[in-house]
Amino acid sequence: LGAAGLGGLAGCGRLPERAGELLAGAAPLPEPFTVPLPIPEVARPVSPGRYEVTQRVAAVEILPGLRTEVWGYGGAFPGPTFELRRGTPVTITVRNELPVPTSTHLHGGVTPPDSDGYPTDLVVPAGHSSHHSHPGEVLHPVTKDYRYPVEQRAATLWYHDHRMDFTAPQVWRGLAGMALVRDDEEDALPLPGGERELPLMICDRSFDEDGSFRYPDGGHHGGAALDAEYLEGVEGDVILVNGAPWPVAEVSATRHRLRLLNASNARRYRLRLSPGGRFTQIGSDSGLLAAPVAHDELPISPGERYDVVVDFSAYPVGTAVTLVNTLADGPAGNVMRFVVTSRGRDDSAVPPVLSRPPDRPRPVATRTFDFRRTDDAWTINGLRYRPGAPLARPRLGTAEVWRLTGDFHHPVHVHLAHFQVLARNGRPPAATDAGWKDTVDVRPYEVVDVLARFDGHRGLYMLHCHNLEHEDMAMMADFEVI
Ligand code: C2O
Ligand code: CU
Repeated sequence: LGAAGLGGLAGCGRLPERAGELLAGAAPLPEPFTVPLPIPEVARPVSPGRYEVTQRVAAVEILPGLRTEVWGYGGAFPGPTFELRRGTPVTITVRNELPVPTSTHLHGGVTPPDSDGYPTDLVVPAGHSSHHSHPGEVLHPVTKDYRYPVEQRAATLWYHDHRMDFTAPQVWRGLAGMALVRDDEEDALPLPGGERELPLMICDRSFDEDGSFRYPDGGHHGGAALDAEYLEGVEGDVILVNGAPWPVAEVSATRHRLRLLNASNARRYRLRLSPGGRFTQIGSDSGLLAAPVAHDELPISPGERYDVVVDFSAYPVGTAVTLVNTLADGPAGNVMRFVVTSRGRDDSAVPPVLSRPPDRPRPVATRTFDFRRTDDAWTINGLRYRPGAPLARPRLGTAEVWRLTGDFHHPVHVHLAHFQVLARNGRPPAATDAGWKDTVDVRPYEVVDVLARFDGHRGLYMLHCHNLEHEDMAMMADFEVI
């Protein structure tokens, strides 16, 4: 599927029919744990505080011997990792050389509204003419400067496309990368770093025989019947870490810091180490925890992150330590492998006190958001997304209890605001819910209370389901910080 063949996606808002779909076979898949783990390049500024990144079509080798067309930041999938520093604002100029409009969201960023990746705040390619425009749409020809104040704690963030109605297919094609915020508080800790700090972007994809990404025709924009695969969210049968299928990394028998991100459209994972082992969690979505928490397994839904340390000195040299996903059988039950190849000197430690996260403020209001399916869409409080029609107007500098519930697994993400999970079904949250977060998995018919603080900026932001197909099928709402 070449760039030219995506013309239908570019403007008219109807996913093109793909005649080849029925005939498509499956691509030959590699043996798991044979492809080396790639580490995305770190973005280099063009001048202090300024970056430029071009979104473009590129052909990359994901499955050995085959070419896959990706839409990538910098032509790469994942895109480059942005290393940001608290207190040092940056401007990132995004240049769009793709055949479609885009909008870039820094997920977890405390970002002014005009740089937050609002779905109708679009960077459009040269010569673009909009066939289906949304009220209030803003079109930036070819480039846009995104300004990030980076006045937030050290945290594992990521960025991805957020175009109205098309986030899912555009992220599937590769428009995502990681961003790490660092600060003095974190620098003072003896955590593993350098080569012993690994960003791990986990996502699933399917491939056609020729190596191209396979994405189903959803029909949700054209009013055709929604197919079940599309409706629940699209899952792939190949698990990628940093864009490589079931990769392998050689490690010394020392502590390593893993920045785990679930960048999948819809797949949830429950991560474990085989033949056993522990994750020492040091950070959540929005930064370091007050103190480390040990887990045997980590449930991770789309959009969530865990910052963990794994001590490979617990294994004899020669051990293969597999990161597995206990929610899936078969190939999707494997994620990647670490092979402990040597002893190593290790000066790192996980201290018992990590940071002083902000205290829990007292809430001034309680609101309910109900994530539910109707006949032809996924809705919040019975409403399909309508840009510019906020469902809530929290006040800057206050905190509110948001009660999140629904009819299915909905990983709920709130822009701008960070929150703590207070309760699940009126009971204390799980150990893995610790810390300040921006995404929480709301399980079917569960009621999850979170305490959200609205700091940093006034303006229009979104909350939505981070199952990206649900998001595209209208499961999003605006709120306005006043
Ligand atoms: Cu990561 Cu509004 O999304
Ligand atoms: Cu959902």
